[in-house]
Amino acid sequence: MEQVIGYTIGEANVLYAHALVSKARMGTYVILSYDEGEVLGLITSVVRGSRLIGDDFSDLETLGKIREFDNAKTTYMKANIRLIMDLSKGTTPDTPPPPGTPVKLAGDDVLRNLLQDSNDATITIGNLIGNEDVPVNINIRYLASRHLAILAATGSGKSNTVAVLSSGIAEIGGCIVIYDYHGEYINSDIREKHVIQPFINPLYLTSSEIAELMNIRENATNQQRVLRKAIKSLRGNIEKGVDSNSEFTQLLSDAIEAKGERSEKGYGEDKKAITDLLNKIEDFEDRYAYILRWDAPPVTSNLMLGRVNIVNLEGLDDNVIDAVISHYLKNILEARKAYKHGRQGLPFPVINVIEEAHIFLSNTDNTLTKYWASRIAKEGRKFGTSLIIVSQRPKGLDPGILSQMTNKIVMKIVEPEDQKYIMSSSDNLSEDLINQLPALAVGQAIIVGMIVRIPVLAKIRKFEGVLGGADPDVMAEWSKAKEKAEENERIGREISNMGEQL
Ligand SMILES: Nc1ncnc2c1ncn2[C@@H]1O[C@H](COP(=O)(O)OP(=O)(O)OP(=O)(O)O)[C@@H](O)[C@H]1O
Ligand SMILES: [Mg+2]
Repeated sequence: MEQVIGYTIGEANVLYAHALVSKARMGTYVILSYDEGEVLGLITSVVRGSRLIGDDFSDLETLGKIREFDNAKTTYMKANIRLIMDLSKGTTPDTPPPPGTPVKLAGDDVLRNLLQDSNDATITIGNLIGNEDVPVNINIRYLASRHLAILAATGSGKSNTVAVLSSGIAEIGGCIVIYDYHGEYINSDIREKHVIQPFINPLYLTSSEIAELMNIRENATNQQRVLRKAIKSLRGNIEKGVDSNSEFTQLLSDAIEAKGERSEKGYGEDKKAITDLLNKIEDFEDRYAYILRWDAPPVTSNLMLGRVNIVNLEGLDDNVIDAVISHYLKNILEARKAYKHGRQGLPFPVINVIEEAHIFLSNTDNTLTKYWASRIAKEGRKFGTSLIIVSQRPKGLDPGILSQMTNKIVMKIVEPEDQKYIMSSSDNLSEDLINQLPALAVGQAIIVGMIVRIPVLAKIRKFEGVLGGADPDVMAEWSKAKEKAEENERIGREISNMGEQL
């Protein structure tokens, strides 16, 4: 028998009701029984007040007496309830609950049934905040065919969520690839990890990818033009057979220089553009020549089923990372399309995780990753290619892409602009849920979308083992650095003493 905790008061509609309750916690599910039938609701916020001690109360002495008399009897608790679904129909209710409708706590069994779709593969990522014994399951089918945004202030548990989700996907035999910006996943204890170095075969690079790798700006039109021409003539030569002893960058520089020589004969190429290009290529060569390898296979052949594929991007510049991620996204999407159209391609769906998404899917800069991520956001569902975008700066994300992320896991966010931005891009995240974001603790999340059957307030379980994102132990690092400095000083003194003795 479920416990009645209160009754609805005032006006309600089919989405919201208010109730006077004896006890309540944010995130608790309740059942309202009225002529509509049984309607599931979620307590999104709770307020407490006093009939005698209002906001304008100003007499401290009387206040003391009221407290002594019987404070408990004069206080009340009100809950805001989001109506989620008519339990018999599985849809939102047609009529609002009348005032006085009893509000009962939903039993664990009802919630367990609602959160477990027995026909589909799911992974358990944590438990309900309000009903701790009820596991929260994520429907994998909708993770691989829809997209997900994981949004939260820094240090609130995004990477932990990615680790829990991706281990779960690997365990059930799926394919997930994490573009590891900080190297935190490669250095983690993820059991099923498969680390991929960011090698790319120049044969498969597009002209725009080469331009991005070499950090040639979109508005540097002369450089872009010369580069395109050089790549075109280089491609002709490459098709005749590559000398695998020559570095791609060397061949490219030679092709550009050849353009320069011809320009002196009157072809009118911009000399400055050529010099600038050669400098940029040299710059790239000094730092990243190792990325481009003639023996690297097409990137899609690196991906393994049943593993957490992690592309190591640690220490690379953002423009190089942009080129690598976009190269993967483009080739995965194209290989999936080819496969679906009966040609040779990638025979399994792939979930792509983009960390620091506000850098690569920014609402101001046009990156290559943004272009291919937008394509996947729009077309990926048909081809089993999906995105998980992760960001601590939601308002820096491209609004078009964010609005395609119909699944959301949102954790603590205090910044009002970020909250507003998320709300404006989500049909299923209402203001009452957004208002709870500042109050969430580390690891607590609001989850909406088809990956869960009903909106949930969950505690994501902690990933067991090392994950690179853990807060650094500052005290330990300071004292280690101090010991090291003292050690160096001692050695220095000993050396100078020896010098004096000689
Ligand atoms: N669900 C959880 N339960 C317990 N502890 C957690 C949970 N999630 C994260 N933490 C802890 O909080 C800290 C930060 O977590 P995490 O690195 O996942 O945050 P983040 O949002 O990815 O941060 P950043 O913005 O820096 O990438 C870590 O020490 C982690 O162990
Ligand atoms: Mg992180």
